[in-house]
Amino acid sequence: MTATWFSGTSSSLVKKHLSQALFKSLEHLETASGFTLEKAIRSGIQNPDSSIGIYAGDADSYQVFSPVFDPVISEYHNFPKGGTHVSDFALPDLPPADPGGKYILSTRIRVARNLKDYSFPANLTLSCRKALEKKIIRALGLLESDLAGEYRPLEDVGKGHRPEDKGLAFEKGDRFQDAAGINSDFPKGRGVFHSLDRKLMVWVNEEDHLRIMSLERSSHLSLVFHRLCRALQALSPRLGFAFDHRLGYLTSCPTNLGTAMRAGVHIRLEKLDRKKELLHGLAKEYHLQIRGTRGEKTEVEDAVFDISNAQRLGIGEAAVIQTLHQGLLAIIKAEETL
Ligand code: ARG
Repeated sequence: MTATWFSGTSSSLVKKHLSQALFKSLEHLETASGFTLEKAIRSGIQNPDSSIGIYAGDADSYQVFSPVFDPVISEYHNFPKGGTHVSDFALPDLPPADPGGKYILSTRIRVARNLKDYSFPANLTLSCRKALEKKIIRALGLLESDLAGEYRPLEDVGKGHRPEDKGLAFEKGDRFQDAAGINSDFPKGRGVFHSLDRKLMVWVNEEDHLRIMSLERSSHLSLVFHRLCRALQALSPRLGFAFDHRLGYLTSCPTNLGTAMRAGVHIRLEKLDRKKELLHGLAKEYHLQIRGTRGEKTEVEDAVFDISNAQRLGIGEAAVIQTLHQGLLAIIKAEETL
């Protein structure tokens, strides 16, 4: 399988940066938790249409297999050799991007986090995944005031047809995650935490150990961000997140490294929907990514776009939110003048 892949035509970044000779030189290596290069690239091999094609099985993967991860990371993030990553959560209050609520339907900011002392989801056994889930449930149970909430194991969500379960569960991962091993024993050891007002949600053991998100139906980016920061401040000392001075927060997929943050809005742009070049030009200028209504690899429905930051590594969180804010103001202005 590997041999035919090397001679094949996959346009993934891992194919581009991993020669057969480099593979041979790294093939015998194992990380602290027993992860190998063959496992790391399995998803890219089984899915030649991958854009990246490699996942980390633990924090150590980024060290042990750095000869392949580093060039992939450099190219994807436009990250210079010798670059470093510094967090900066000091964001001033910002006015809502769309105070009249004419365009922006909702704001959602998520970060991915993994615990440094556990294998990442691609390399978790069922018993480890369950132990990890327990540890995370305990930490989530200590959240206070508006952040306090309820944890639901994924196996139970939807059972009993509780109407309040609607929109709570996350789906089993796609074929890329499946081939990486991230779906093993699904849905066991996974679950969703939500604060009572549902403005804080945490996915446990999806693509990363935690996907912590703050969301609401407004365009108040700094309010949403500050809620997320409060949750992180409470959880971080209890869980011990994997962080590297060069690569930032360590994630399963190298696309999420750095801040591991995706901050975005759902925004209805009826006029720009018919002037896509203009929208894409603005997105480029403000380092934004445009996705379909239902997220990654989906279509735009009813002119509702998912617009979020494209930069994650080598930039602080506060700068990411400020750039998004400026970009949204520019996009709304363009929509209004059309
Ligand atoms: N592994 C997939 C690919 O290479 C997805 C990459 C980014 N998406 C993600 N959910 N990590 O195309």
